[in-house]
Amino acid sequence: MKDVVRQNFDASVDAYMTYERRTNRFTSLARLLAAEMNARTDSGLGTVLDAGAGTGVSTRVFAETAADTIALDISREMLREIDFPARLQADFDHLPLKDRSVDGVAFTASLFLVPEPATAVREAARVLGADGVVGAVAPLGWFRPDGTDVFEQFERKSRSPTGTSVVEDAVAGEFSTTTGT
Ligand SMILES: C[S@@+](CC[C@H](N)C(=O)[O-])C[C@H]1O[C@@H](n2cnc3c(N)ncnc32)[C@H](O)[C@@H]1O
Repeated sequence: MKDVVRQNFDASVDAYMTYERRTNRFTSLARLLAAEMNARTDSGLGTVLDAGAGTGVSTRVFAETAADTIALDISREMLREIDFPARLQADFDHLPLKDRSVDGVAFTASLFLVPEPATAVREAARVLGADGVVGAVAPLGWFRPDGTDVFEQFERKSRSPTGTSVVEDAVAGEFSTTTGT
């Protein structure tokens, strides 16, 4: 399933960027998440892992507030668009980072794409330092102005293999959680 997700995004870079230019959707989601994460730290966001950085929309948002931002994505083609020094092509389930090496892990519209969110969440917990914060946000729908689904050509399961409650349970299994709007 991850191969399908990776291939979907590898093949969708232009469409993704066009969609973002038109809607500003992921910028808004990342801003919301950055503010929520910031509010849960005492001394501001230090080093943040932008998990599922895509073309760098969320990376740019986190770079505005975090001391350092690392962009990580499974899709080489999406990642290629990011003009940022710290870029890693990797899977959430095997983060190429040391234990307790970051202060925040941000999943902007990305955690709901994995078949086993519990594994990704455990990895996030491993790399997170004491008092670190993990945030996850997901869009409610992906539609064109005419109401048609942006990802209609893709296999349904590859868009959200697990569903919201599985993601929420996985996060709650590892962290104390607060759910927002
Ligand atoms: C909807 S995009 C969001 C991109 C970016 N955060 C933004 O705000 O524009 C989701 C991203 O998650 C990445 N992704 C999905 N599953 C992944 C996995 N298992 N490991 C790493 N990245 C993954 C995809 O390749 C895609 O670039």
